[in-house]
Amino acid sequence: MAELIVREFQEGEDATRRAIVELGTQELRKTYQPRESGGQCGCKPTGILVALNGDVLVGTAEYAKTAQSIYLQGVAVHPAHRGQGVCRALVSKAEEIAQNANVPSLALCAIEETGNVRIFEKLGFQVKRRSVAANHVSPDGGPVTQVDMEREIA
Ligand SMILES: CC(C)(COP(=O)(O)OP(=O)(O)OC[C@H]1O[C@@H](n2cnc3c(N)ncnc32)[C@H](O)[C@@H]1OP(=O)(O)O)[C@@H](O)C(=O)NCCC(=O)NCCS
Repeated sequence: MAELIVREFQEGEDATRRAIVELGTQELRKTYQPRESGGQCGCKPTGILVALNGDVLVGTAEYAKTAQSIYLQGVAVHPAHRGQGVCRALVSKAEEIAQNANVPSLALCAIEETGNVRIFEKLGFQVKRRSVAANHVSPDGGPVTQVDMEREIA
């Protein structure tokens, strides 16, 4: 595998980045969907990271800086490049951003039923809160569990 680099998104990378996000979203939609009457989900990003394997864009994440944390959303890795540390590299870069901004934690929100909670636990995040998701439901309209997670900055 070529060297994995994570940096800020650049102009011209939008189509590839969006395609990776779309693949991730399609998968997540098998487990949960926005509630029809739901409110706005996510927040306006401060920046967008991309992970490159050589010159191939393989993953991405948006981040939003608040006083308490760097909040990650829209995390997605191309299916052909999963399980190779791409998400770990994105999280690592977010940690560097948090350190430079002097904020004490990384934060994100996952839906329990996707299985992603255990992936982010492996990446050092801890569960802070579990609740019935206000803005999302299962494909048959049932409740899903929102899990707020945090990782303290070392
Ligand atoms: C979730 C996602 C971003 C993980 O990306 P990734 O690059 O494959 O993750 P990494 O390779 O960095 O793996 C991180 C850790 O999780 C583990 N892991 C990754 N995928 C896993 C899986 N499907 N099952 C179990 N463990 C898994 C890895 O083994 C690694 O732990 P380790 O270092 O202790 O071995 C990716 O699967 C994805 O894009 N999914 C679709 C979109 C999505 O769910 N986004 C997140 C929304 S909250």
